[in-house]
Amino acid sequence: MHTNGNLFKIHIWGTSHEKQMGVIVDAVPPGLPLSVDDFMDDLNRRRAGGPGTSKRTEQDIPQIVSGVYKDKTTGAPVHIVFENKHQQPEDYTALSFPRPGHADFAANQKYKGYNDPRGGGFFSGRMTLLLVAAGVLAKKILKPLRFESRIINIGGHADYDNIVNQTAKDGDSLGGEVECRIDGLKPGFGEPFFNSLEAAISQLVFSIPGAKAIAFGDGFNADTMKGSEFNDVILNAEGKTKTNHNGGINGGISNGNPVVFSVKFRPPASIAKAQNSWHHRKGKMETVSIGGRHDLCYVLRTPVILEAVAAIAIADLYMMRPV
Ligand SMILES: Cc1cc2nc3c(=O)[nH]c(=O)nc-3n(C[C@H](O)[C@H](O)[C@H](O)COP(=O)(O)O)c2cc1C
Repeated sequence: MHTNGNLFKIHIWGTSHEKQMGVIVDAVPPGLPLSVDDFMDDLNRRRAGGPGTSKRTEQDIPQIVSGVYKDKTTGAPVHIVFENKHQQPEDYTALSFPRPGHADFAANQKYKGYNDPRGGGFFSGRMTLLLVAAGVLAKKILKPLRFESRIINIGGHADYDNIVNQTAKDGDSLGGEVECRIDGLKPGFGEPFFNSLEAAISQLVFSIPGAKAIAFGDGFNADTMKGSEFNDVILNAEGKTKTNHNGGINGGISNGNPVVFSVKFRPPASIAKAQNSWHHRKGKMETVSIGGRHDLCYVLRTPVILEAVAAIAIADLYMMRPV
């Protein structure tokens, strides 16, 4: 079981092409209204099928197998299970050709060749389904906090439909940047050192496969700005600031302004375009073109995943020290 969190713990199990996968969430308070419908908006936002995303079409209907009675949480761990039905295991063979840039080679080394290669196994973007499901619970616990995400660019373009279409024709893939904003967080969330708000969010952001960089506020530009430009002037007794270059966090602690962070995702490794790389079975360099169903630009599916991991991180900090 893969576990994250101190009190609001999430445990995830299963892989992309196993029969089922699931998430167990600890410390959900009793009496919270919870039904399958509560999950569907967020799960649908993550679903593939639109332009630039995978042709794998899973229903992604959560089965709440424990922790809920008469549509209310009982206080016991909430266990949610999903079926994996739309599978094409024949697209994946164990490390005959480790996809350049994917986790195939590193996973094979770590697990001595016994890891499940189907759909990338545990290294599949499908695992983020479980993060989104846990995020629904975290968002409920944290109400009335508001989580909102938007795509800043795909492949460097704010207006990205054309580049997505062109890249599909080229058999290539695209990365991008997504911003997440949390409104309503009181000052005081986060610890000054190891469990800073930035660290708690970042740790979960880097559980999203393909995340390569994170910045809070204007962090991606902080190196070139002067103090007089970066400083957020305080306007009133509540700590409201004129600008928000610090992304609502000072000293690892929320300062009462919106928490804003931005994540850069790499382009997917699985591309049809020919690449020369090491063929394990043949023991030589060979040209590879990756087939099967892949996201040309999975970034399109990530806004809701960022909201989920931010909510999970904040729910855990909240339980450690309610503000
Ligand atoms: C929702 C989602 C879908 C993804 N789909 C693909 C995909 O179809 N093909 C691919 O090569 N990578 C895809 N990725 C990225 C890989 O899972 C990731 O690059 C891989 O596990 C290696 O991890 P790393 O890039 O963080 O090193 C996806 C990621 C997410 C979040």
